[in-house]
Formats: sequence, structure tokens, C-alpha cells
Amino acid sequence: MDIDDRPSAQTGDPTGENRRLRDIMDAIPAHIAYFDDSWTYRYANKAYAAWFGRESDQVVGHRIVDVVPAEVFDAVREPLGRALGGERLTYEYTMSDAAGRTLYARSTLVPDIGAAGEVLGCYVHAVDITEQRRTQHALAQAQKMEAIGQLSGGLAHDFNNMLTVVMGNLAGLREAHPDDAAIEEFVAPAMQAAQGGAQLIERLLAFSRQQPLAPRPVEVNELILGMAKLIRRSLPETIALHTASRNAELVAMTDAHQLESALLNLALNARDAMPEGGELRIESAVETLDAAAAAELDIPPGDYVQVTVRDSGTGMDATTLAHVFEPFFTTKRFGMGSGLGLPMVYGFARQSGGAVRIRSRQACGTMVALLLPRTVASPAAAGEAGRAAAPATHLAGQLVLLVEDDPEVRTVVRKQLAALGCSVLEAENGQEAADIVENVAAISLVLSDVVMPGGLDGCGLTRFIRRFRPGLPVILMSGYVDQADAITQDLGVPLLAKPFSKERLSAMLDAICR
Ligand SMILES: Nc1ncnc2c1ncn2[C@@H]1O[C@H](COP(=O)(O)OP(=O)(O)OP(=O)(O)O)[C@@H](O)[C@H]1O
Ligand SMILES: [Mg+2]
Repeated sequence: MDIDDRPSAQTGDPTGENRRLRDIMDAIPAHIAYFDDSWTYRYANKAYAAWFGRESDQVVGHRIVDVVPAEVFDAVREPLGRALGGERLTYEYTMSDAAGRTLYARSTLVPDIGAAGEVLGCYVHAVDITEQRRTQHALAQAQKMEAIGQLSGGLAHDFNNMLTVVMGNLAGLREAHPDDAAIEEFVAPAMQAAQGGAQLIERLLAFSRQQPLAPRPVEVNELILGMAKLIRRSLPETIALHTASRNAELVAMTDAHQLESALLNLALNARDAMPEGGELRIESAVETLDAAAAAELDIPPGDYVQVTVRDSGTGMDATTLAHVFEPFFTTKRFGMGSGLGLPMVYGFARQSGGAVRIRSRQACGTMVALLLPRTVASPAAAGEAGRAAAPATHLAGQLVLLVEDDPEVRTVVRKQLAALGCSVLEAENGQEAADIVENVAAISLVLSDVVMPGGLDGCGLTRFIRRFRPGLPVILMSGYVDQADAITQDLGVPLLAKPFSKERLSAMLDAICR
């Protein structure tokens, strides 16, 4: 190697060509080195030495095995040997930095062949590909979640339709034989199982971000305190629960019901991770994300309300941690967990325009942080969301147009409407419904499915009605609503999530027809 620290012997000029070359080598963003056939460094630029936490003179003249960490030497010994055997090759390796983060590098080795064909040494050119790897990993992870989301969303849609039929018919059977104990004996467990299925689907829909959300300004501290009472009741005495907030008022734009459900899921996970007892902390604070932190979470920079659930439990290993947001991933015994808790939390946070952070260390514990968009709007009065629906006395005699392509679902909903005293006209697609709207002036409400075959789906039908009968109220119902928020916000129509009970339907009709 010509490039070294010595002033050029030929010119006697310490600021000569060699020094300039060396400065260039130190300035370029690549790790460059040369080692001889005795595995000893003869040259290393600044970046190469710094990669191993050293200065160049702590590398040059030293053996490779004494410079690079043992984990790296074990991994690269074989390619180094092959390069000294005359082979040119490229390989990648990983290394941990002082903070325990994994760094990735790609190295190319070029043998230095002498005049007689003998290998004198080897040039090393390496680049830090950590950032590239992280981006690739984040992208792959996002694509995987997207794909599972679509798959589970489709599944949930079909199941919702089936459950609507099952639950509707069971309810019908119960109503037809109100005092028949023999029938109730069969109906009760069937209804319970169907309701269990509906809850499962609800979490799956939350994961695939197809759960209709009702975001409003929510004072998060108040909500946490309310939930803490409930959570404390489900914890054994060996677990201490603490809540704390760094800010007096924390208003997030979110769906209060889903946030409660997310907190409960996280608290139950924490409980399960502390069979011997421990400490569960629920904390809240304003978290301001700068551009870099926000990009890492794939959300816009700005102020978020962060709710952190921390436990002192078993923690998770890296493999478990890599899969926790996937639906049906569970390490719990059969029947003890369905693996839908964290997916629900993840989907809810993403759909709300926020994100989830998770950190876990084995034997130390786990921290899951929910970030929700902060708002300056004043929170809605407590209890407003849960307002009980008034009895729907004025529904009797209303003519409802029911639009649904699945005949069995249509039958169930028709019966529910009839039981509420409504008269029902049916259409099995959007086009047919549009014709009826044009011709039957007496219709006082349209209840329509969103996804339907043919040219006109529920959204198209709503737009049609807006043009021809602007005053006619519309309710959309669906078990599978892509961009549910867009539907409710853009079209301004309420959305009824399938499967729904007669009571939910009644409350919704009541609110609309008030
Ligand atoms: N706080 C925690 N500490 C340790 N491991 C956890 C924690 N939270 C989640 N896990 C791990 O992640 C897995 C997935 O959690 P998730 O909440 O999605 O499903 P589950 O708890 O197994 O089932 P479900 O919530 O549907 O009843 C758990 O089985 C567990 O292995
Ligand atoms: Mg869980």
C-alpha cells in the first residue's frame, strides 16, 4: 500500500500526493482497508476504524482477530480465507453496537495478486447498510400486515353475514316460543356461541381496520381512571395497579369504546405475563414526535396522546416480539388466548391515525405505548357516547326500503324491522333500489348494504338518493367496510356494523328518525 501516514519518501513532502489521497480516502463514506497474507491490517481509513470503535492507528499493524469483535470474526473468517486464496467475493454480516442495536454491513474483498500470481493481501470495501435493512424490514412488515389485514377482513365479512343469519334466526325462534324451556335450552348456548363468534370477528375487523369508529374528543385521563376500576377487579391481589399522568388534561381524537377495549386487552396481557404477581402501570402523557420519530412510526409529526401500559412480567424473546401483531399469534394454551388482543390494539391505533410502540425484555417486563392524535377540541360530555336509546315508539308504520343482496341476511333484517313496527320494501341490488326510490314516494328511510354486486353499491345508491330525494335518510350496514371512516365522513351517513341486534338497529333508526 502506498497510502500511509508517512510523508512521501520520494518527494519528502508531508503534504504531498499521498496525504491528499489519504484525506480523500478518509472523507468518502465507505469503509476501506487492506490486510496482508498474515491477516494483519496495512491500511484502514477513518470510517473503517470508526466502524469498530477505533482510530486508524489502532487498526493498522494489528491482526484482524484483535480488531474486529469475536462475533464478527467468527462470521467472516471463512470469506477472508477464501479472498486470501485468490477469490473476489461480497458478503454481508451483522454486528451489535454499544447500545445493543444490530448493525448491518456489506463487504467486498478483492485479492491483491502479485506479479508471480501469488496473493499478497486483500483490499476491503464495506458499506453500512443498516438503514437500508431497517427500511426494507419496515416495508416488508407493513406489506405483511396489509396482506393479513385484507385476508382477515374478507373472512370477517363472510362470517358476519353468516352470524347475522344465525343470530337473527335464533332470536326469531326465541320470540316465537317465549315460554318454551325446551327450546330455550337449545337456543341459549347456540346464541352464546354465536355472540362469542361475533366478538372474535369484531377484534379481527379492528385489526383489519374495518371496524367503524366513532372518533370524538376524549379526555384520556378520565377514561383511564374509569377503566382502572374495572381492570383492578380482574387482577389478582398479587398485582399492584398504578395510574399516573404527566398532564392535567389530555384530549385525544379517538373512539372511546375501542380505546377502553384496547386498554383492557393490554391489561389482561400484562396480568397473564405476571403469574407470580408484579406491577402494572398505566401512564399517559403528551408525546411530541419530530419528523424522524414520526417517520419511524409512519404517522405525521406532531402532538400525540401517549398511553403506556407497562408490566414487570416475563417479557418476550425476539421471535415472539416479531409476531405479536399478527392475528391468531398466541403463546397461550389452547382456549386461553385467541391471539387477537394486540392485533386489535394495533389496528385500532392505525385506524385512528396513530401507532403502537412495543418494547420487551425477557425477565424484565413489557411496555406497550398507544399513540393517538391529540386534539385541542373540548371533550364530549361523559356518557354521551353511551347514551341509552330511547324506546322507538315513532318507528311504527314507517316504510323502510331494505337493500341487501344476501337473501338470508335480508330475511333476518326484514324480520327485525317488522318487529319494530316498520313496513318493509326489499331490493336485492342498488339499481333495483334506485328504481324503487324514484317511484315510491312513501319511503321514509333506506337501509342498505354497502358491498353489493352490480354497478351500484351502497355508496353509489346514497349519492343517487342525495340527488333525487335529498331529505330521505340513509343508513348503511356492512360487516366489511373498507375506509369505513371515509364512508361516514364523506357521505355523512351512519354505519351499522353487522351483525347487529334488533336493539342496535332500533337505536340507530330511532336516532335517525327523531
Ligand atoms: N405484556 C406481555 N408480556 C409478555 N408477553 C406478551 C405480553 N403481551 C402479549 N404477549 C405475547 O404476545 C402474544 C399475543 O398477544 P395477544 O394479546 O395478541 O393474544 P393473546 O393474549 O395470546 O390472546 P387474546 O388476547 O386474544 O386472548 C401472547 O400470547 C404473548 O405471548
Ligand atoms: Mg391478549
